[in-house]
Formats: sequence, structure tokens, C-alpha cells
Amino acid sequence: MASSSASALRSSASWSASSAPSFRGGASAYERNSLRFAYSSASPLHVLRCRAVISPSNGDTSLISSESEGGKQNEGQVSAVQKRRRVGRGSRLVGSGSAVPKHVISNEELSKFVDTSDEWISLRTGIRNRRVLGEDESLTTLSVDASRKALEMANVKPEEVDLLLLCTSTPDDLFGSAPQVQKLLGCHNALAFDLTAACSGFVLGLVTATRFIRGGGYKNVLVVGADALSRYVDWTDRGTCILFGDASGALLLQAATDDQDSLLGFDLRSDGNGHKHLHVTVDDVDSSPNGAETNGSTFKLPGKATYECLQMNGKEVFKFAVRAVPQVVEGALQEAGLTGDNVDWLLLHQANQRILDSVSDRLHIPSEKVISNLANYGNTSAASIPLALDEAVRSGKVKAGDVVATAGFGAGLTWGSAIVRWG
Ligand code: ACO
Repeated sequence: MASSSASALRSSASWSASSAPSFRGGASAYERNSLRFAYSSASPLHVLRCRAVISPSNGDTSLISSESEGGKQNEGQVSAVQKRRRVGRGSRLVGSGSAVPKHVISNEELSKFVDTSDEWISLRTGIRNRRVLGEDESLTTLSVDASRKALEMANVKPEEVDLLLLCTSTPDDLFGSAPQVQKLLGCHNALAFDLTAACSGFVLGLVTATRFIRGGGYKNVLVVGADALSRYVDWTDRGTCILFGDASGALLLQAATDDQDSLLGFDLRSDGNGHKHLHVTVDDVDSSPNGAETNGSTFKLPGKATYECLQMNGKEVFKFAVRAVPQVVEGALQEAGLTGDNVDWLLLHQANQRILDSVSDRLHIPSEKVISNLANYGNTSAASIPLALDEAVRSGKVKAGDVVATAGFGAGLTWGSAIVRWG
């Protein structure tokens, strides 16, 4: 009974901070505040709610109140909850994995059906190849492959995963693909849901995962970044189709002690004013010609919704990226109490080599410390950071203890940086 209560709790936990922590901040922002959180869980058997407070001084959790269905306290359920919360409050990065489609499209091949050239694309972007989903592949299958590799590296079994976050803007199902990834992986004890923030999705997902570990007692969290923008680009528009590719990357975060915390600092931002520069908007052109009488007036019945192709003002996005990304990296480094000199690797969202060069110049981080794999994959949106990190870890470039400054930026507009320590 106790363990089924705990797993039901995991499946619908939520928290709220009494003294809202700054959106920008690492562990220290939370340590300054006492973090209150509330769980609410419903299963066919019972309803359980409990509220607790984490002491700002020693991190201990004390239960304020708990009630099961009808307001009656159930000791067994409460102790199971308390036990789950006593995991470490830091989050360690212990596994990575990635997967890309089999089908490669080179610049030369692209130039056979779009008015472009290998020379133009490589000079202006650094991209030479991209991968595109084939008939037997999907965002879900790629994400399962990437996650399996991350679990293997972390030596964690699928049933030990407590939370699976699928960061994507291009799910196989509009309602979310995370539960399918969960099912195919066999993570039957995990809560799984999608998180959408375009090319910043992975950084936002990473920070979100650490909040679940820190505030909610989750132990093993899979964060998957995956996108298949090949589905939404106009393959006749040379201004956009040359840039994007499909991929998936995954990291496994594990609860750890505060001194082992891999998330050293972060700074996350969004600004809807920039939406006009980059979007894939729903397009209801397919509405039904017939109307229906509702409440005395004619209501035009919506038809099947479709999406327009990706629209981007490349110049504006470029200017935004080179201006905004250094600011958030500096903000996150400051939060971590570090400077650019402490960074072993700069790992930016892989959008354009010229953006990577400009941002690293502004941050005075030498080019040898900049991780870049976009020549092989192009811009894979939410997948680009975990894909590049996985390759760098597996090739031995990134070693245990290395400090990696990551930053994502893109549609929304959203952007943000997380400073992490590998391993
Ligand atoms: N091949 C050949 N010529 C081209 C191509 C092409 N593929 N694309 C554009 N051109 C031409 C243009 O027509 C233009 O010609 P003109 O001077 O005769 O008018 C010329 O090349 C210059 O075009 P620009 O658009 O000014 O080229 P720019 O140097 O700005 O590069 C690019 C365009 C690569 C898109 C760049 O602006 C860029 O990388 N922007 C950032 C995009 C980005 O980072 N997106 C990330 C977020 S993605 C997300 O969140 C989903």
C-alpha cells in the first residue's frame, strides 16, 4: 500500500514556493528561502494531500499537514512520502545518450532541389550535413534510443526512473510524446510529460528537472531534448531549410548531495515580443464551410488544424542571439560564483558557427573550448545541446568534473544558460 501510494504521488506531484525564488539562480537562490511544497495525489484507491516545509538552514523536511480521503490521516502513506523526500537535493549528471536518423542530406544534395550551394551554406552557417527522419523512424523512437544509452551509461534501470521530461516542439502527438517514450523504455514508475520551448527547451528542461529533485524528492530524472523540424520547414525556402536537422539527446540526472550538485547556476529568460521573428503558427485554413446555430448565432465550425511552415527572420534572430546569449551566460556564471576562466567548455545551441564564434569572442572564451558539431547535424533545436554533450563525453573530450557553460536560444523568444559540472 505504501509503495503504491508513493508511486501515485510521483505521478501528480506539484510544488509551490512560499517565498518565490528568483527565476534566475542556482542552488543558492533556494537556500536563501524556505521552500514550501505541496503534494496532491489522486488514485482510484485514495486521495492524499500533504504540505511540508524545507528548512533554509539545514535542508530538513518537516511535514506541516497531511490528509487522505475524507480528511483522515493515513500514517502508512505519509511515511512513504517522507521517505521519498529524503533524497539528496543536488542533481548530478550521470548519463548521456543520443540518436540521429539514418538519412543524411548533404549541402550538395540540398542544392539539387533548392537554389543554394555548399559554399554558401558552409561559409554562412558552418553546416555541411543534416539528418532527416526516415519512414521507420519517429521522434519517439529516436528519443527511446537516446534515453536507453543514457540509462546504460548511468547504470540505472528503466523502472528506477521517477520522471521523464521530453523537451520538444515537434512531438509525434500534439498531446505529448513523453508517455510513449516512457512506455517503450519500460519506465513504468515514472511521470512523463512534454516541455515546449523550441531551441531553449533542453536548458529549460534541465533546470526544471533539478527543481523536481530539489523540491519534490525525485531521484532519477531523464531529460530528453528531441526535435524533428524537418516536418515544419518549407523545403523550397533556402533561407530556412538549409539550417535544420532532426535528432534526440538525453541526460540522466540523479539526486545527490549539495556538494555533488552538477547545476552550478542558471539564468532563464523569455520575451514574447520577439515571436514575430520566429514561429510555426497554427493555421486553421481548413475550416468547415458550414456553420452551426449555437446560442442564437452562427458559429463557424473549426476544421482540421494544420501548422504553417517555420517562418524566421534570420537576421533578427542572429542579432538577438549574439546580444542576449553572452548576457545570460554571464548571469549564470555570476550566480555560480565563476568567471569565463573557470569554463572548461562552452556548449551553445548549435544554430550557426558564426553565432558560436561571436558569443565565445564576447565571453573571451577561446575557440578550443567551444564545442561544435553543427557541421554534421545542423540546427537540431532542443536536441542540439544533449547531442553535442553526449558526443563530447563519449569521445573523452568532456571529463568528469569539467565545467560546461550551456546556453539555448530560439523561438518564443526564449533563451537561457545553465552552468553544469559533468559527472
Ligand atoms: N543559399 C544561397 N543564398 C542564400 C541562401 C542560401 N541558402 N539564403 C539566403 N541567401 C541569399 C539571400 O537571398 C541574400 O541575397 P541578396 O543579398 O541578393 O538579397 C543573401 O544570401 C544574404 O542573405 P541573408 O539572409 O542576409 O543571410 P545571412 O548572412 O543573414 O544568413 C542565416 C542567413 C544563415 C539564416 C542567418 O541569418 C542565421 O543563421 N540566423 C540565425 C538563425 C538561428 O539561429 N535560428 C535559431 C533559432 S531556431 C529555433 O528556435 C527553432
